[in-house]
Amino acid sequence: MDKFRIEGGHPLQGEIPVSGAKNSALPALAACLLTSEPVKLRRIPPVRDVRTMEQLLEYSGAQLEREDGALTVRAAKLDRPEAPYDLVKTMRASSLVLGPLVARTGRARVSMPGGCAIGARPINLHVAALEQLGARIEQSHGYVEARAEDGLRGALVHFDRITVTGTEDLLMAAVLARGETVIRNAAREPEVQDLAALLNEMGARIEGAGTSTIRVEGVASLHGADHAIIADRIEAGTFLIAGAITGGDLVVTGCDPDHVDALVVKLRQAGADVAEISPGALRVRSSGRPRPVDITTEEFPGFATDLQAQYMALMTLATGISFITETIFENRFMHTQELARMGANIRVEGRQAIVAGVPELTGAQVIASDLRASASLVLAGLVARGQTMIDRVYHIDRGYEKIEEKLARAGARIERVS
Ligand code: EPU
Repeated sequence: MDKFRIEGGHPLQGEIPVSGAKNSALPALAACLLTSEPVKLRRIPPVRDVRTMEQLLEYSGAQLEREDGALTVRAAKLDRPEAPYDLVKTMRASSLVLGPLVARTGRARVSMPGGCAIGARPINLHVAALEQLGARIEQSHGYVEARAEDGLRGALVHFDRITVTGTEDLLMAAVLARGETVIRNAAREPEVQDLAALLNEMGARIEGAGTSTIRVEGVASLHGADHAIIADRIEAGTFLIAGAITGGDLVVTGCDPDHVDALVVKLRQAGADVAEISPGALRVRSSGRPRPVDITTEEFPGFATDLQAQYMALMTLATGISFITETIFENRFMHTQELARMGANIRVEGRQAIVAGVPELTGAQVIASDLRASASLVLAGLVARGQTMIDRVYHIDRGYEKIEEKLARAGARIERVS
């Protein structure tokens, strides 16, 4: 099993490019199931979760072809509209194939995701939404089976709570349903907008993506398209925090600054200088310890839960106490115990972590528990005195493209050891 060895204390300098967004690539790949024509996707990040989604498409009968960083999916025939447990258990986002498979083939059989390190992650809202479009759904033997032999029909769907992949799943079903679907309390994440853009390029009629009400006028069929995935805002945010925590002078390139607003404002309040120096290039500079600045995670455009762990690493070194409140997932503080092994002073009370800044972190052996928690430990390792060894870095490979190589090119002392 691979580990990262990090020698802390080297400020990051130079440029780090951002890859395509994992959480946009996953629904985009699922959307390819909606047409028999080829769909070309550019800027697909070569990370493990994307590979898992590719395997899911291949399992259903789609053919994939890679060339020069682009991926072409041909789902001419879908003989096996299923997502088996072995693939789903490694990636909860597999439930994204439920909507497109039932919309295209009239049936879908998808293994139910179990719990995971950050919380329960149920898919009840996906199921309820598809039922409102007329799908008949049964759950047994650990699988969700959806049927709609006569096709889906548009409906008014009001999500009880905002769900990103739930909104995406429903959107992919609604595009081929008869009549109009109105989605209320829809997720407003940039990844939802990117999916809607792709679907519209494929011939769908979607309006309002990016707001909390999305309207979809169903069409009889979709066609091929050529689409570039948006930049990964969580990867961009992770690198911005890396620049700040190491007291560096770093330019993060190829990102969409509008998508990381909430973080940028917090970094500035904490004392870092962040500026867009050219389109899509954010320069972060900082020196000395950060000021303590509280955050509360929220749906977009609020502070992303996927950046909470990384931001906490920064706050462990603040000149005072900060409060970090997690409202999206019930158990997303696994990194606190590992950060404590590096000298951080954090107390967790329910959904809040109280972080009392310390003057320095010290390198230690730590274990990555999930994707973003691992990123938080990498950031802590970059600034800790001495050596940090991070075990189970397969978690980080799920969502970051060669993070150690990108950081090393900007001056970090980090290497992968087997
Ligand atoms: N929820 C339900 N029922 C459902 C669906 C969600 O109760 O049917 C709850 C969840 O348990 C959670 C909340 O609703 O408490 C929000 O979850 P959401 O459905 O929005 O999360 P998701 O769609 O499963 C996506 C990202 C996550 C990111 C969250 C929140 C993808 C593939 N995943 O997950 O990304 O944390 O939205 O922004 O888009 C990551 O990349 O590390 C990651 C975990």
